Amino acid sequence: MQFKAIIFDLDGVICSTDEYHYRAWKALADKLCTPFDRVINNRLRGVSRMASLEIVLEKYTGPALTDEEKLALATEKNEIYRESLKEMSTADLSDEVKNTLDALRARGLKLAIGSSSKNAPFILRQIGLEGYFDAVSDGNNITHSKPDPEVFLKAAEFVGMEPKDCLVVEDAVSGAEAGHNAGMKVACVGDAAKNGAGDWNLTSFRELENVVG
Ligand code: BG6
Ligand code: MG
Repeated sequence: MQFKAIIFDLDGVICSTDEYHYRAWKALADKLCTPFDRVINNRLRGVSRMASLEIVLEKYTGPALTDEEKLALATEKNEIYRESLKEMSTADLSDEVKNTLDALRARGLKLAIGSSSKNAPFILRQIGLEGYFDAVSDGNNITHSKPDPEVFLKAAEFVGMEPKDCLVVEDAVSGAEAGHNAGMKVACVGDAAKNGAGDWNLTSFRELENVVG
């Protein structure tokens, strides 16, 4: 087989949290009287929370904000977002994703998460995947966000594999770049696939079984 491990992004790959992110950022932007729409929301895919805030503030014209105020705003957004995450359940994990993960594992592949999110452990618990993956590398163990390769290099290290033996699965263009920067092959779904960012650009998650051969 071409790969020994697969490193999955979480948001937009294993489950969908787009709408929750959108609603939370929209509430914050409305409070700041700055425009925010789904086009801007799409640019936040794969981007860390603080870097996302900078994008949300691009059209902000109010009084200058200190670093402390920005941190408070990001925390406020996260509190709204976490309220939505509490409503997630095992119903937010599709049969297609779960069955494909099980099939890939049955073929002897190590399965890991490589996510920019600090909420990754909470989301995995909500959708019934706590303890499922061989390793979780997320926003809590990195200092550089995608497209920096750190999150994927850490995931590879956690499962004891060389980057060349790992396949990354991503829905964000910045995430696909991070995978390539890590020296890994990348299979894309969703937005990144539409942009042709991967070595494979898939129309469904189950096609991963063909990618690994
Ligand atoms: C990524 C999302 O997975 O995590 C981004 O695609 C998000 O939209 C980032 O900004 C950070 O998430 P969190 O949960 O740490 O705020
Ligand atoms: Mg994603």
